[in-house]
Amino acid sequence: MSEERLKVALVGASGYGGGELLRLLLNHPKVEVSIAVSRRLAGEYVFRTHPNLRSRTNLRFSPMELDNIMNETDLVFFSTPHGVSKDLVPKVLESGIKVIDLSADFRLRNPEDYPRWYGWEHPCPDVLKKAVYGIPELHREEIQDANLVACPGCLALSGILELVPIAKAGIIEKEKIIVDSKIGSSGSGESPSPSTHHPERSGVVRPYMPAGHRHTAEIEQELNLFGGEGHKVGLSAHAVDIVRGILSTAHVFPLEPIEMKSLWKVYRGAYRDEPFVRLVRDQKGVYRLADPKVVVGSNFCDISFEVDSHLNRVILCSAIDNLVKGAAGSAVQSMNIIHGWEETLGLELMGFHPV
Ligand SMILES: NC(=O)c1ccc[n+]([C@@H]2O[C@H](COP(=O)([O-])OP(=O)(O)OC[C@H]3O[C@@H](n4cnc5c(N)ncnc54)[C@H](OP(=O)(O)O)[C@@H]3O)[C@@H](O)[C@H]2O)c1
Repeated sequence: MSEERLKVALVGASGYGGGELLRLLLNHPKVEVSIAVSRRLAGEYVFRTHPNLRSRTNLRFSPMELDNIMNETDLVFFSTPHGVSKDLVPKVLESGIKVIDLSADFRLRNPEDYPRWYGWEHPCPDVLKKAVYGIPELHREEIQDANLVACPGCLALSGILELVPIAKAGIIEKEKIIVDSKIGSSGSGESPSPSTHHPERSGVVRPYMPAGHRHTAEIEQELNLFGGEGHKVGLSAHAVDIVRGILSTAHVFPLEPIEMKSLWKVYRGAYRDEPFVRLVRDQKGVYRLADPKVVVGSNFCDISFEVDSHLNRVILCSAIDNLVKGAAGSAVQSMNIIHGWEETLGLELMGFHPV
């Protein structure tokens, strides 16, 4: 007798995060995608919007009908713009259905951070309190029992995974942490804008948010949690001419001069058993350090580090695919953890090369 599959719904299925969730979930041995919501495209075949899924599914987009979703499914993924899920998630949770949210609506622990970073008061701080921040490498045990997982922002995830081990070790200046991130065009979603129009976006290396990026709040939140209060992060974001991928280069300043072998000890200790974090430092070849080109299509986060004794500085680099480890991949990893399945299920993907 075949095992019954978990029925899942996706809200925001027509977007880039939604498309990537579909790619992963249609291949997942324990899941059936029963509803893929698009308000604009209800009734249309999913593969017309996500042509990589042609012949893999005959699913059509469904309209946004929350009652139908709650009757038909066991788990709902929200892959909607910020500000949408906060009004819908409480109702879904009340019906006993679990939620994995890819947006920012439940990421910040302190409700008072929402007016500051997002410009609105959080409407349900009681629900916010119960949300678990969805970085499996750091919150695995809480995710196991979570009803609501708030997946991290993509720049935040790349910064957090490279910085938490060294912050936790307590060996760097807390108040001067610089994260310089480069991101591809899919990071801004499927809706076009003047700055994402091809003639304007093609060929760019464009600083679009040198200071004040919202993901700063998430990075500080996690560094304060694991390394004690008082971390100050300066995140600068740049748009670069790739479709997928993030490279975040962090600059931190050790309290005492540090050697590479001590860093290896810290990072091996943190990630030795992690299936999706690779420490990269090769002596030969083109790809000696973390490089987004290598992780595109996969759920890996590659991390490299270097000591600059000239400036008493440690440089950390982390590379992810913003749509996989930075979004849908981490969401599926959390789903696997919640259900007690092998954490790598449906995620055993290697990157493409060349791409
Ligand atoms: N792109 C990334 O690299 C990335 C990485 C990590 C996290 N995220 C986060 O994931 C979420 C989705 O990002 P994305 O890049 O996939 O965005 P996107 O491509 O713009 O897709 C969002 C989808 O949400 C739907 N939607 C919009 N307003 C809605 C509403 N009021 N109710 C229901 N559905 C609504 C839209 O579909 P219809 O109009 O067809 O209904 C749209 O296709 C965002 O919160 C984003 O910040 C994105």
